[in-house]
Amino acid sequence: MTAPPRHLVLVGLMGAGKTTVGKLCAARLGRDFVDTDDVVLRLAGMPFPELFETLGESGFRKIEKEAVRDVCASPAPLVIATGGGAVIDAENRRTLSGAGYVVWLRAPVAVLSERVGDGADRPLLAGGPEASLARLLSRREPAYEAASDFAVDTEARGPNDVADAVLDAFCGAAR
Ligand code: S3P
Repeated sequence: MTAPPRHLVLVGLMGAGKTTVGKLCAARLGRDFVDTDDVVLRLAGMPFPELFETLGESGFRKIEKEAVRDVCASPAPLVIATGGGAVIDAENRRTLSGAGYVVWLRAPVAVLSERVGDGADRPLLAGGPEASLARLLSRREPAYEAASDFAVDTEARGPNDVADAVLDAFCGAAR
């Protein structure tokens, strides 16, 4: 399987499996894995609940934009997992699509909700994970659609299976 020399980017709501699947894809491709959430945490120097409390969501989004730009600028092709809301920003969508092949990991809200559990450390789920995820999905679906080259349904599939589907699409795009 030959991978294109561009980043492989995973987008999707919280609980979609971006980090788990991204790490598997990176290991199989022999590439580094970067999660933009980790870069945000490093740049901000505080955990998400504190970050949202002190800077608000808009402050978080500014740092996230910087993280997306920095990670995409890597000359070495990476596997990149994005925070669930990164694609709502048009500039982020352009940056991600320009630098990589973007795969949207999808699942029904009930499945996402089960995966995120009580939503600890995810301030946007504070109002209750299932209702919050449903609201976010209806708002963001067009952005995921616009940002992605390919979508993979992850319901009732294990992470290895999902990684297979992602890599088939990514490497198929090279042919
Ligand atoms: C967010 C998703 C989170 C994190 C932040 C905001 C969102 O990332 O970036 O809490 O807006 O959907 P994960 O999707 O990796 O949980």
